[in-house]
Amino acid sequence: MANQTILLLGGTGYIGQAFARELQRRKQPFTLLSRNEVDYSRFDVFLNFLKTNQPAFVINAAGYTGKPNVDAAETERAEALLGNALLPQTIAHACAALNIPWGHVSSGCIYSGAKVVTYGRERVEPDLTRPDLHALVEKSPQAIHGFSETDRPNFSFRRPPCSFYSGTKALGEEAIAGLGQSYIWRLRIPFDEFDSGRNYLSKLQRYPKVYDNVNSVSHRADFANACLDLWERRAPFGIYNVTNPGFVTAHQVVATIQKILKPKRTFEFWSSDAEFYKKAAKAPRSNCVLDVSKLLATGVKIRPVEEALEDSLRNWEPE
Ligand SMILES: NC(=O)c1ccc[n+]([C@@H]2O[C@H](COP(=O)([O-])OP(=O)(O)OC[C@H]3O[C@@H](n4cnc5c(N)ncnc54)[C@H](OP(=O)(O)O)[C@@H]3O)[C@@H](O)[C@H]2O)c1
Repeated sequence: MANQTILLLGGTGYIGQAFARELQRRKQPFTLLSRNEVDYSRFDVFLNFLKTNQPAFVINAAGYTGKPNVDAAETERAEALLGNALLPQTIAHACAALNIPWGHVSSGCIYSGAKVVTYGRERVEPDLTRPDLHALVEKSPQAIHGFSETDRPNFSFRRPPCSFYSGTKALGEEAIAGLGQSYIWRLRIPFDEFDSGRNYLSKLQRYPKVYDNVNSVSHRADFANACLDLWERRAPFGIYNVTNPGFVTAHQVVATIQKILKPKRTFEFWSSDAEFYKKAAKAPRSNCVLDVSKLLATGVKIRPVEEALEDSLRNWEPE
């Protein structure tokens, strides 16, 4: 591996593939490493690999997500902790020992809700499904502000209730905080134009009933692009929320799907949180709005959420 080469961990995964595509597009030399070839989750193995190959930068797109959804983490707890808390810690220590900069794919799911500003006062509202807040989202979206990188996670083991998955993602961020030279890139609900069981736009089209909530979301290629831009620009290391600016409700996304794809089916929504959690979900779900001012202030460009969603649907490629 030459000195300009980037090492990509988790390149076999849904997000790792987006990094691989973007690196190829940029003609950036990179090596994709899978645990099958080298078990990078073992400190000694990974450190030796780094010593031998000396990559210029490491991308950690590896982690445990839970299949078919985050409920799996409620029972596969060891695997979730290994993939989301211990793995980043291992990578952080190995990279710090050799002074290698790196970036870690984290998640916005360590927050719930948004910051709401009314009558000049800001407060955190963890549940935007409450009827009065839902009405505010529709009528005065400017009153809804995203969590910034300096806000403490409010959906984590330290601030329960949370899902086990979210708990491990927050723990992962804590485990690497202040260690070496690293970016923490927070992704949220990936989507794009490629129909897939992992794509939010596909999921919405396949759910028998849709759960309505308010979220910031990340176009997969836009995300990988912005993360790589941060490194290319040598933006200061640290945490960055990397979502398409803005936020959407599931209702709005479904309406856009109906407008552009004109599916034959009709869409039904769960009538309440209680019904959703009784019939369709086990662990509490994170739904949240993230602020991306810090990312934009570096000069990195990323499309507004409405544009990224419409564009994905106009270029939709069925599976
Ligand atoms: N997809 C989402 O909705 C989403 C949203 C926000 C954040 N994220 C974060 O983005 C990262 C990548 O997610 P993804 O959706 O691309 O996941 P994925 O499709 O399941 O791929 C993850 C890859 O990580 C590697 N890996 C290493 N340790 C693992 C472990 N203990 N358990 C499972 N896989 C492990 C595997 O690659 P090898 O075995 O080949 O090395 C696997 O292919 C994760 O950290 C996830 O938390 C994902």
